[in-house]
Amino acid sequence: MKQKTIPTKNKKVINWINQIAALCEPDDIYWCDGSDKEYACLCDLLVKKGTFIRLNAKKRPNSFLARSNPKDVARVEARTFICSENKEDAGPTNNWADPQKMKKTLGKLFKGCMHGRTMYIIPFSMGPLGSDIAQIGIEITDSPYVVVNMRIMTRVSEKVWSILGDKGFFIPCLHSVGHPIEKGEKDVTWPCNPDNTYITHFPETREIISFGSGYGGNALLGKKCLALRIASKMAKDEGWLAEHMLIAGIENPEGKKTYIAAAFPSACGKTNLAMLIPPKSFKGWKVWTVGDDIAWIKPKEGKLYAINPEAGFFGVAPGTSVKTNKNAMETCRANTIFTNVALTDDGDVWWEGMTEEKPSHLIDWQGHDWTPQTKTPAAHPNSRFTAPAKQDPAIDSDWENPEGVPISAFIFGGRLATNAPLVYQSFNWAHGVYLAATLGSEKTAAAEGTMGEIRRDPFAMLPFCGYNMGDYFTHWLDIGRKLTCIPLMFRVNWFRKDSKGNFIWPGFGENLRVLRWIVERVENKASAIESPLGLMPTYQSIDWRGLQFSKEQFIDLMSVDKVQGLNEALAQLTYMKQFKKHLPPEFLNEVSLLSLRLVRSNEVWSVPDMSSLKEITVQKKSLKKRTLKKGKK
Ligand code: OXD
Ligand code: MN
Repeated sequence: MKQKTIPTKNKKVINWINQIAALCEPDDIYWCDGSDKEYACLCDLLVKKGTFIRLNAKKRPNSFLARSNPKDVARVEARTFICSENKEDAGPTNNWADPQKMKKTLGKLFKGCMHGRTMYIIPFSMGPLGSDIAQIGIEITDSPYVVVNMRIMTRVSEKVWSILGDKGFFIPCLHSVGHPIEKGEKDVTWPCNPDNTYITHFPETREIISFGSGYGGNALLGKKCLALRIASKMAKDEGWLAEHMLIAGIENPEGKKTYIAAAFPSACGKTNLAMLIPPKSFKGWKVWTVGDDIAWIKPKEGKLYAINPEAGFFGVAPGTSVKTNKNAMETCRANTIFTNVALTDDGDVWWEGMTEEKPSHLIDWQGHDWTPQTKTPAAHPNSRFTAPAKQDPAIDSDWENPEGVPISAFIFGGRLATNAPLVYQSFNWAHGVYLAATLGSEKTAAAEGTMGEIRRDPFAMLPFCGYNMGDYFTHWLDIGRKLTCIPLMFRVNWFRKDSKGNFIWPGFGENLRVLRWIVERVENKASAIESPLGLMPTYQSIDWRGLQFSKEQFIDLMSVDKVQGLNEALAQLTYMKQFKKHLPPEFLNEVSLLSLRLVRSNEVWSVPDMSSLKEITVQKKSLKKRTLKKGKK
């Protein structure tokens, strides 16, 4: 690729590039334009270098497989730092490092780190180009793998330079794989420096510097680093929200669409929910995807509007199949980069869960022969597909609308085997913020700690909040006070198990039954009953057509055990103590109200049956009449 003339006159950009080039000493500098031609050239280059394997053009047109270094396979939270001026501003849930000291450490690591490599400059926009809510980033990287992935995940374009103009604001994102090629040395197919990895964020100066990893969120700096960690701090300062949430539109048979935003910790099926295919019996219902991972949400005229700042999906491959997520399978049928999945003998890809029957022979994610007898997985559990969002057959018609889509409900979900009902609604906004703040998932592997112990992941933002999480809670409470059209808030749990350890709820497409109740709560059509935890559906208020699910199973799914509930309330209180003076006082109120509701409930709280539902409806009506009469007086 020929070097073009420098496409910007923005002095801040030029000075920064010059300074980084002098530090990193690359062999070449290349300004990316985001064109198809450039993408094709870089993919060819990656094939030549051995980083990419071109897949069978008939089976997976224009698609590639990359295999990473086995030491560079995921985000590394232990090496992720928030370098705020004051330690307290990073809060107790982040790794903090002094910004000056960190810059010194990084300065040494970056010195000469691009020897033998090209330094690429990627101008990108998070959010539709030129939209009010979009942000411009410029990533410097020495990894062509990062350039081609960024082109799918963000909007890389020369137009960014004209939007930026001479003085516009941008977020500098500096990345190096940290693996210089000195004279006489040969490059490797996946350069990285796993013993010296640093993913650093400077929230006050809005800078990102990442060293040593070439994988996912560590290296594609527009995603977790910019769109969540830095953006969450910008959002706090400017009065909006940057969230780890999917956005989906739920269309009913009358064609009315209700948009929801939902936060789930990793491994809770977020992409499946964003791309849900309704059960066959739900004729006329559709779920449309706006985004599967990140939502930027802004208040406007008393309502909340959300955009998906990304342009692609960086989806976890294992477990994805035509049965679990047909839309995701369609999305990655072409123009996709696969990382760490297995290669089939006919040049296609495979991963655990893709088909019921395992292929008789594969090349696994580390390049070794694999057969069904092999003890290790063929694809790495965190293997990914990077695919353009526009290829999703269920992509929403408004997914690129710069105004965003109006959010009517927030859903927060964890993975909990016991005592966490399928769905319940918060009593109000502050209670909803509390439900989201105490979100958690049970640890599943012995290696992660004690089985069944809950890993708290407030708002699913634990690894992604760029400032003190206590202040983040307060920010959410403050946002609610600015709204006149307040979204409803819900907790869900698809993962409750019975006494034999089997999942009670079928999940996947059947989750639409829960979404339907949520949508009808928004429309004030569905009934609910007060439980110690929140407002719950009765058996009669869920649409069961086409599914055999008994009242008894429903009761098992929804019941609340008093002692377990009180223990959980105590655990929540213990968790909250770490935020000290940053904890919103409202939360102490919420935990005491929760405890009181539990103390006053039966040993096991159960959803009442149909006859009592009727009573409640009647009671409500007579209450209304009474109020009216009173009003007349
Ligand atoms: C992701 C994550 O990769 O949340 O999206 O871990
Ligand atoms: Mn995520």
